[in-house]
Amino acid sequence: MIKDQTSSEELKQLLNSYSNENTDFWSFRDRAEREHTHVYFQYPAMMVPKMQGQLIAAVRKVAPGTNHIFDPFVGSGTTMAEAMMQGLNFTGQDINPLAILICRAKMGPFYDQILQKKLGIIINAARNDHNTKIDIDFPGRDKWFQPKIAIELSHIRKAILNEAELWCRRFCWVALAETVRLTSNSRTSTFKLHIRSEDDIKKRDATISPINIFETITKRNLTSLAKQKKTLKDKGLIVDDQYRGYVEIKHCDTAKPAYNVNSYDLLVTSPPYGDNGTTVPYGQHSYLPLQWIDLKDIDDTVGAEWLKTTKEIDSRSLGGAKDKALEAASDVQGQSKSFRQIMAELKDEPKDRSVRVAAFYRDLNNCIDPILTSLKPKAYMIWTVGNRRVGNHPIPIDQILIELLNARGAVLVTRLQRAIPTKRMALRNKSSSTMRSEVVLVMKKGDE
Ligand SMILES: C[S@@+](CC[C@H](N)C(=O)[O-])C[C@H]1O[C@@H](n2cnc3c(N)ncnc32)[C@H](O)[C@@H]1O
Repeated sequence: MIKDQTSSEELKQLLNSYSNENTDFWSFRDRAEREHTHVYFQYPAMMVPKMQGQLIAAVRKVAPGTNHIFDPFVGSGTTMAEAMMQGLNFTGQDINPLAILICRAKMGPFYDQILQKKLGIIINAARNDHNTKIDIDFPGRDKWFQPKIAIELSHIRKAILNEAELWCRRFCWVALAETVRLTSNSRTSTFKLHIRSEDDIKKRDATISPINIFETITKRNLTSLAKQKKTLKDKGLIVDDQYRGYVEIKHCDTAKPAYNVNSYDLLVTSPPYGDNGTTVPYGQHSYLPLQWIDLKDIDDTVGAEWLKTTKEIDSRSLGGAKDKALEAASDVQGQSKSFRQIMAELKDEPKDRSVRVAAFYRDLNNCIDPILTSLKPKAYMIWTVGNRRVGNHPIPIDQILIELLNARGAVLVTRLQRAIPTKRMALRNKSSSTMRSEVVLVMKKGDE
């Protein structure tokens, strides 16, 4: 027990020593670049890779047995790639099928030379396809894609489907997803689906070619993959073009009972901040790219029902189901004083605001027991969270999370504050005033 407290104290001192030397240290202002496979796709609210790497390394200094990392909201796999860089085992899960695809493409294998040849064949086949049929159909297709764009995207899709190797198709689907993001009629300045002006659509239609964009993206991603492989290889972490450690990515809802019990040494995660209905809709952002991808190549849990509407994935995510949210959040009120206070403040606001907040915290609370069950006793946890406002009310997710975890015997080791130096929060939309800093909570699970 005494040794335990010592290691928490050591970790706190170590982490605080960085910011004592440089108060801006955790902002990673000049170190927020995304390299290696982190560049594959513009996923919303991505974490800063080097910061996560530094946090993991700090925990390993005080707890050298740390071997298996868990991220229950894995997103585009920032934690996964950093865990791999340190030669660790990793388990990640997410409810968004696109997140699963990106992670599975990023985890390898790293057959860069074969990939280069295969990409040449795929791009050639797409360029030589003169069929004018559009291969996919869904409500709103013609609103979101100009016919010329949809025809070229069909050529790329067909060429990928003809590739025999799943690992190669996954790499290509991610590049196609990014191509769709850049060539659809939805604005790229926001994560929500938001149609461009007619003028803008006309101008773009004359100049952009999905095949050219796909080619550029595959080249960039291939270079990144080769760099990542080299870095891993230099560290002795590649055998037969595969990562030497264990990496597992699961498509599931973190609020459901845990698959594994007492399994992971360290949690490193960034849950949604409670604004997926409003400013950071992970599912909506993924909706158009997923229409073009063969869902079977992602996971056998993913079928067309995940794309029933533009809101389907978000409605299955934290805070997505609003039914009886206020009643269901009474559990959370019992465990968090800060949550009780915020619900009291929201009483006089339009009802949908308190329902939104209640739905999100009901679901976040439902994730905590499964997460703690998955971790080994006394495991450290690193939660990166962002406070936001609803109406004029700041919602302190950091404080609420601390209280919900305290209620289950976990303790706070330290709390680091960081400014968000980049535009990765879609700062051009309304969220800019609500999200400018993040908090990193370092916590420790209790004995059980
Ligand atoms: C802040 S993002 C994670 C971003 C990630 N750290 C990165 O760097 O890309 C939060 C993630 O939580 C996922 N999510 C939301 N509700 C979920 C649930 N019930 N179960 C699992 N994942 C969920 C979203 O799909 C999203 O990918």
